[in-house]
Amino acid sequence: MKVYEIQNQFGLENLKIAERPDPTPSHGEVVVRMKAASLNYRDYLMAIGRYNPKQKLPLIPLSDGAGEIVQIGPGVTKWKVGDKVCANFAQTWLDGAPDVDMLRNTLGGPLDGTLCELRIFGEHGLVPMPENISFAEASTLPCAALTAYTAIVTHGNIQPGATVVVQGTGGVSIFALQFAKMMGAKVIATSSSDDKLKKVKELGADEVINYNEKTNWDREVRKMTNMKGADLIIEVGGAGTLQKSISSTKPWGTIALIGVLAGGESNNLSLFPILMQGIRVQGIIVGSRRNFEDMNKAISVNGIKPVVDEVYSFEETPKAYETLKAGKHFGKVCIEI
Ligand SMILES: NC(=O)c1ccc[n+]([C@@H]2O[C@H](COP(=O)([O-])OP(=O)(O)OC[C@H]3O[C@@H](n4cnc5c(N)ncnc54)[C@H](OP(=O)(O)O)[C@@H]3O)[C@@H](O)[C@H]2O)c1
Repeated sequence: MKVYEIQNQFGLENLKIAERPDPTPSHGEVVVRMKAASLNYRDYLMAIGRYNPKQKLPLIPLSDGAGEIVQIGPGVTKWKVGDKVCANFAQTWLDGAPDVDMLRNTLGGPLDGTLCELRIFGEHGLVPMPENISFAEASTLPCAALTAYTAIVTHGNIQPGATVVVQGTGGVSIFALQFAKMMGAKVIATSSSDDKLKKVKELGADEVINYNEKTNWDREVRKMTNMKGADLIIEVGGAGTLQKSISSTKPWGTIALIGVLAGGESNNLSLFPILMQGIRVQGIIVGSRRNFEDMNKAISVNGIKPVVDEVYSFEETPKAYETLKAGKHFGKVCIEI
């Protein structure tokens, strides 16, 4: 079978097609013919060696993917040949709070990922695909969508009428917008691009802010909330945006700390407003298989369509990485296998 590998050294130039033997399932395992995979910012960092410089190579990249079961190993009861499935990001995190080992068992590093023709999974490492979506759409769910769902629903506990701020128009933020609207919230979306802001409006954003033009976008959020602040901020910028997220949040509101697109460390954050206003800063790490199954039901019942911007062929994988790196995409970048 064909696979992509980050071979021997980090760097996008070391992303190459390779041959590996077709897998045979052991007890409790199934073989999935991967049909599509999608990219997260994490995958780009992994490929260039910035996510985990100690990652062993070669590595089959990408955590997110969907496909069809083609072979069942002995003792498997959960699946049959032909079932359409998504890979669970943290393979052994099934429910409840994770332990450290569960958070180490993740696809696309340290475990081999989904950018391959065939892949073995333990029968517990998969979830059924939602109804009425394509393989490319389903391939976007394991990390990006589940992270957004965890932030909005599981930890966010967003109520109808609440105000949610989503930063930028990448994979996580667009899903956060869709789930926030599903929960009946008002959404304020930010972007560096007016064209993308038009698109988020079409997707249901109630108010928009160009964060390049309005660099003090926190003031705009306060104005848009009658100077009260938002209930929940989807923080994907990290250290570079956190101060403004703090000043955008209402007392007892929540910042879902998800990403570090604008920096992972800061020495000059003022933490006083967090305590003076009782703000909850909630770190988010994807979600469990139970959360994934719940999310997929919500996607089916509410007819949510993942927003796929570009779909590349398997051979065009390096171009898909370049697209993600350039940050010109809106929603998700996928690869058909
Ligand atoms: N904690 C977790 O479990 C988890 C899971 C998934 C992702 N993440 C992290 O979350 C972040 C987002 O991931 P992703 O896959 O959604 O990334 P992505 O698709 O690559 O998102 C890129 C977009 O983010 C926006 N952006 C960049 N810098 C920004 C800034 N300073 N302020 C506001 N928006 C900014 C831009 O939107 P515009 O072009 O519209 O300006 C850019 O196009 C990454 O840091 C990723 O590592 C964490």
